[in-house]
Amino acid sequence: MPLVEWNDKFSTKIPSIDRQHRVILGYINQLHDGIESGEYRGVLDIVLRGLVSYTRSHFAYEEMLFKRFNYEQSAEHLATHQRMVEKIIEFRDLHAKGQSNIGPELLEFLRDWLFHHILEDDMAYSNLMIEQGVQ
Ligand SMILES: [Fe+2]
Ligand SMILES: [Fe+2]
Repeated sequence: MPLVEWNDKFSTKIPSIDRQHRVILGYINQLHDGIESGEYRGVLDIVLRGLVSYTRSHFAYEEMLFKRFNYEQSAEHLATHQRMVEKIIEFRDLHAKGQSNIGPELLEFLRDWLFHHILEDDMAYSNLMIEQGVQ
């Protein structure tokens, strides 16, 4: 059973961004299901590998839009992205060193990403992007 289902409150009303944000939701549910079923290490491998490349491309996409449309809160948003990238690298390195109990903390980090970064920080740019016709 998925931990979090996509619903309209997660939508920025920007289709490309929503598509990317659904990936985060997918990782949350995949990790949650892995923890529940005991398929723990394999799922951590998949989720962490995915997250490293996902964050690179998703954050770069948002940052490209900020630059193109002169988003006012770009500096704070970029700093948050940077902190998140560092945190993911930290999780990846702990996992690579064989630390076996990072699943719940990673899940908490991803939930915070969804409920805090997406629902607050990302929502803050949505009106500007919609006005600019970003699809
Ligand atoms: Fe985002
Ligand atoms: Fe963001």
